[in-house]
Amino acid sequence: MSVKILFFSRNGNSSRIANKLAKRMHSEVAIIKDDINWKGPIGFLKGGFFASKWKTTNARIEPDIQLEEYDKIVIVSPVWANNVAPAVYSLILKEKKKINRLCLIINNSGSDTNKAFENIKTKLGTIDDTFSITKSKKNEDMVIEEILRAIS
Ligand SMILES: Cc1cc2nc3c(=O)[nH]c(=O)nc-3n(C[C@H](O)[C@H](O)[C@H](O)COP(=O)(O)O)c2cc1C
Repeated sequence: MSVKILFFSRNGNSSRIANKLAKRMHSEVAIIKDDINWKGPIGFLKGGFFASKWKTTNARIEPDIQLEEYDKIVIVSPVWANNVAPAVYSLILKEKKKINRLCLIINNSGSDTNKAFENIKTKLGTIDDTFSITKSKKNEDMVIEEILRAIS
């Protein structure tokens, strides 16, 4: 089965998770980017605003890939205001038809990730596989093992 791992990251956590998965799967990651500067306190406020209002951004994948060529696309995103980051929301919204099977991994500080998934699914519809990693639960490595069992 061919799997591609993508991530968006502001602070490095989603990047670390995606790279841990890729290393174990002997594959390379690709990065989801947009044109907005999310850094600093203003970036934080803008991020919360964009995510809570479902605002879309000009999302792209670097290096560019053909999503339809993979059996499974794994996306790692931070939770922003009970949503995924705007670049991730925008990418999935735009490209969902090209994705054969989507595995969405969200990571956050401590809020209820079931609520985030409920919220996300109201706009993006069904997602084939979902996993969450929460800093306050210290469950990163345990969930990574679970994900590897499910996707490899
Ligand atoms: C704009 C913004 C909104 C956030 N909203 C939430 C939230 O609703 N719940 C939560 O637990 N963490 C929230 N966080 C924290 C991030 O989800 C968490 O730090 C995550 O690990 C960041 O991933 P990253 O390092 O890949 O950017 C938020 C962070 C930002 C920047």
